[in-house]
Amino acid sequence: MTEPDTSPILHDRLGRPFRDLRISVTDRCNFRCTYCMPEEVFGERYRFLPKSDLLTFEEIAHVARVLIGLGARKIRLTGGEPLVRHEIERLVAQLAALDGLDDLAMTTNGYLLAQQAETLRDAGLRRVTVSLDSLDDTVFRRMNGGKAGVAQVLEGIAAAQRAGLTPIKINAVVQRGVNDHTIVALARFCRERGYIARFIEYMDVGNLNGWRREDVVSAAEIVACIDAALPLEPIPSNYPGEVASRFRFRDGSGEIGVIASVTQPFCGSCTRLRLSPEGQLYTCLFGTQGTDLRGPLRAGAADDALAALVSSVWRARTDRYSEIRASVSAPGNKVEMYYIGG
Ligand code: GTP
Ligand code: 5AD
Ligand code: SF4
Ligand code: SF4
Repeated sequence: MTEPDTSPILHDRLGRPFRDLRISVTDRCNFRCTYCMPEEVFGERYRFLPKSDLLTFEEIAHVARVLIGLGARKIRLTGGEPLVRHEIERLVAQLAALDGLDDLAMTTNGYLLAQQAETLRDAGLRRVTVSLDSLDDTVFRRMNGGKAGVAQVLEGIAAAQRAGLTPIKINAVVQRGVNDHTIVALARFCRERGYIARFIEYMDVGNLNGWRREDVVSAAEIVACIDAALPLEPIPSNYPGEVASRFRFRDGSGEIGVIASVTQPFCGSCTRLRLSPEGQLYTCLFGTQGTDLRGPLRAGAADDALAALVSSVWRARTDRYSEIRASVSAPGNKVEMYYIGG
C-alpha cells in the first residue's frame, strides 16, 4: 500500500529526519573558483555532461514531488551555477506550484542575477543566497579564476533585493592568506545594506582543490576578528539543523552567520538530500556513491516505487563525514562540489 503524504517523518539510522532537498541543475559554471573548479582541470577541453544526461525540468519536478511526499519542506537550487541552465525559471515555476513546500531558494554566484532576478521572483523563487568571497576586486578575481569582478555581482545582488528575493545572504568561503584580511569589510558592507553575510570554513570537498587543514580559518577566529571591529553576540538558530551559527551586531544593526563545518561539524542534525544534475541522489556532500533515480524515472517507475527507493536510501543513511574527517584515511573518490552544489 502507498504511504500517504502525512506519513510519519522518515528517519535515518542515526535518527535524523529528512527535510531538505538540494537540487544541482547543472555541472557547468561561468566561474572557475580555485577551491571548486580550478581552471587547470576545468579548461576549455573539459567535457561537461551532455544535455541528454541531465534530468529535464519535468523529471526534476517529478522527483521533487515524490520527495515532498517523503518529508522535504525546503528546496534549494544549486549547481554548478544554476543561472547558466537555460530557462531555469521554468523549473522554478514548476517547483513553486508543488504543494507542501515552506521554502524555495537558490544559491548563485550572482553573475547573471541582474538580468534574471525579476523573472525568477515572478516564477515563484522566494530568496537567493549569493556567493561573494571578497569585496576586494583583485582578491575576488583571483579566487574566481579571473572570470568576474565584484561590480557585476553587486549589481545582481541589488537587483535581487529590488525584486524582493529576501532575506539576501552572502556566502564567503574563507581561506587563510587569500581573503581572510577582507572579512570585516564584507561584514560591514552587508550590515549597511541589510544582507546577511555568512562566512564558510574552507572545506575538503571533492578531490581537486588541494585542501590543507592549515588553510582553514576557524569560525572562532572569524567571529573574533569581526567582533573586534563590530561587536557581536550569539543568537539562536532559526530552525533545527540550521547550518550557520548566527550572531547579531550588538548595536542591533543586523546579523552574520558562520558555517563551521570543519571545526564544529553539524552532521548530527543533517537533514539534507542532494540530487545531482543527472539524477543521482547523494546522502552527503562528501558522498562517494549516489543512487540513480534517472534510470527508474525514464523506465516509467511508479511514484510508489520511487518513494520506496528513496525511503530505503534515507533509512540506511549513516553519513557523518565532517565528524569523522580526521579518521578517514582514504576518503575515496568524493563527489565534486560543482556537481552536487554547496
Ligand atoms: P539557509 O537555508 O539560508 O539556512 O541556508 P543553508 O544553510 O542551506 O546554506 P547554504 O545553502 O547557503 O549553504 C552554505 C554553505 O554551507 C554551503 O555552501 C556549504 O559550504 C555548507 N554546507 C551546506 N550544507 C552542508 C552540509 O550538509 N554539510 C557540510 N559539510 N557543509 C554544508
Ligand atoms: N569549501 C567551502 N565552501 C565551498 N563552496 C564551494 N566550494 C567550497 C569549499 N571547498 C561554496 C561556495 C558557494 C557554495 C555553492 O558552496 O562558496 O557559496
Ligand atoms: Fe562556480 Fe560556485 Fe564552484 Fe565558484 S563555487 S566555481 S561559482 S559552482
Ligand atoms: Fe551532512 Fe555529510 Fe555535511 Fe555531515 S558532512 S553535515 S552528513 S552532508
